[in-house]
Amino acid sequence: MSTMVEIKHRPVLVDKVVDLMNPECGKVFVDATVGDGGHSLALFERCEDIRIIAIDRDPEAIKRSKMFLESYGDRVEFHNINFIEIDRVVSYFVDGVIFDLGLSTFQIFDDKRGFSFGRNSPLDMGMDEGAMSVEHFINSASPDEIADVLYQYGGERKSRRIARRIVSEREKEPIMTTSRLATIVKCAYPPGYHRIHPATRTFQALRIWANSELNHLRVALPKALRVIRPGGVVVVISYHSLEDRIVKVEFARTAESAEYELITRKPITPDRSEILNNRSSRSAKLRAIKRSDSRKRGS
Ligand SMILES: C[S@@+](CC[C@H](N)C(=O)[O-])C[C@H]1O[C@@H](n2cnc3c(N)ncnc32)[C@H](O)[C@@H]1O
Repeated sequence: MSTMVEIKHRPVLVDKVVDLMNPECGKVFVDATVGDGGHSLALFERCEDIRIIAIDRDPEAIKRSKMFLESYGDRVEFHNINFIEIDRVVSYFVDGVIFDLGLSTFQIFDDKRGFSFGRNSPLDMGMDEGAMSVEHFINSASPDEIADVLYQYGGERKSRRIARRIVSEREKEPIMTTSRLATIVKCAYPPGYHRIHPATRTFQALRIWANSELNHLRVALPKALRVIRPGGVVVVISYHSLEDRIVKVEFARTAESAEYELITRKPITPDRSEILNNRSSRSAKLRAIKRSDSRKRGS
């Protein structure tokens, strides 16, 4: 833990999130993906007298955020659950919910987790115990099943070729590590210049599949929209076009009712200086929706 503490996640679009949530005395927020607590800390920095319900499916994230948010004492309530259960732990209306999707930096850098193809780790990629096993999938699924996952969740155009290579390599010896998988994917690619590492899309697809990330987002968004009080907001930062699409469609459908109004017609993205300072922010897209204030609705 001690060396991992030095690797702290840098919250993305943090000023925008704080402006949208507008923390004021007595307000209650849900940080549905607390990670290292960066967005929660920024909310407290704007106004100390708020309460936060902090959720993360990864037990390690809960341990870390408890440490980073320690000085706020019982103003933070922690729940090591999947955000699809948001309605189980939020039993009253709140003023805002933030979802900052994807991975926290400590997860990427943890050699035991297998999220990064740049490290030699077991083929895990689970954010919690409920995740499906990538190792089992890679070593037992049919070429079509593998190709479908790579194409559907990673948009990998060489999915069939990679899947065939995986199957022929696993016949020699089971594929147990991230570095072996990354090498197999690289070898399946035609040689030449690649803007990103050839294994990037494969790893992203397997992670999204193993953790059912898109399904969980589909389930959690309508629940989050129901727990905000009039005047409250739901803010989502996504890092993948499929996630952004789910948010866009759900928010547009919800805003058809007079009860909700879209705050962002187009997604907010980080500016050049944020991207230069924090490369992980480069694909971020923020969308927000507000539950209309009932007093205004009536007028
Ligand atoms: C990008 S990080 C959040 C970083 C955080 N905003 C910060 O500033 O430190 C995403 C976090 O969401 C968590 N997460 C992803 N999917 C989740 C889900 N379905 N339920 C709960 N937590 C989830 C991950 O475990 C990870 O810790």
